[in-house]
Amino acid sequence: MRKDVQLNHASRLVNHGPTVLVTTEHNGRRNIMAAAWSMPVEFTPPRIAVVVDKKTFTSDLLQASGRFALCLPVPSLADLTYRVGSESGRDIDSSGGTGSDKFARHGIATFAGPVLGLPLVEGCCAWLELRHIREAHTEQAYDTVFGEVVSAQADDRVFTNGRWSFRADNAELHTLHHLGAGLFAVPAQTVQGERLVAR
Ligand SMILES: Cc1cc2nc3c(=O)[nH]c(=O)nc-3n(C[C@H](O)[C@H](O)[C@H](O)COP(=O)(O)O)c2cc1C
Repeated sequence: MRKDVQLNHASRLVNHGPTVLVTTEHNGRRNIMAAAWSMPVEFTPPRIAVVVDKKTFTSDLLQASGRFALCLPVPSLADLTYRVGSESGRDIDSSGGTGSDKFARHGIATFAGPVLGLPLVEGCCAWLELRHIREAHTEQAYDTVFGEVVSAQADDRVFTNGRWSFRADNAELHTLHHLGAGLFAVPAQTVQGERLVAR
């Protein structure tokens, strides 16, 4: 079930490189795209960098609204992740009705983010809302954007006490890791490293 994650544990949600769904909303228009490239960059307050191509509609809405969200899809959302990462919301008619945005076109159920009210995707295993940190020089030169995490939630069947717990009995809640062309790996196995103990 969906539970709040302490903000000081938020970077752990993405430090293993999951593919994320970036959601945005501005002036009644909302959008969603896939991003394979994201990483934590600061502990406190928790900050995350995401590569968002300036040509995307996501970039337009993110820059205009100053906020965005990251939702971590699970294996049953692989098709959806590939689809929203293969078409632009800019090309979809904004006049309303079915098909007026990617959420409607693909029947994506959402709930409102607790702090920023952003559309978060039902059925994911973790969700973060971020305030955009404007970095004019970096953003001019690169497609990297930075955000400060203001809310974090995760499904407690797979993320508990600030840790992922990827097991065979919760495989349907594992994260997706993009290998290219819509092929994803999932963390099917984990290995515990032991510290050297002095005798
Ligand atoms: C699995 C997957 C991962 C992707 N990762 C990224 C990424 O890290 N950064 C990026 O800018 N685009 C990435 N893309 C491409 C965008 O999702 C794609 O350009 C999308 O159509 C943009 O949609 P928009 O114009 O509606 O925002 C990825 C696509 C897929 C399918």
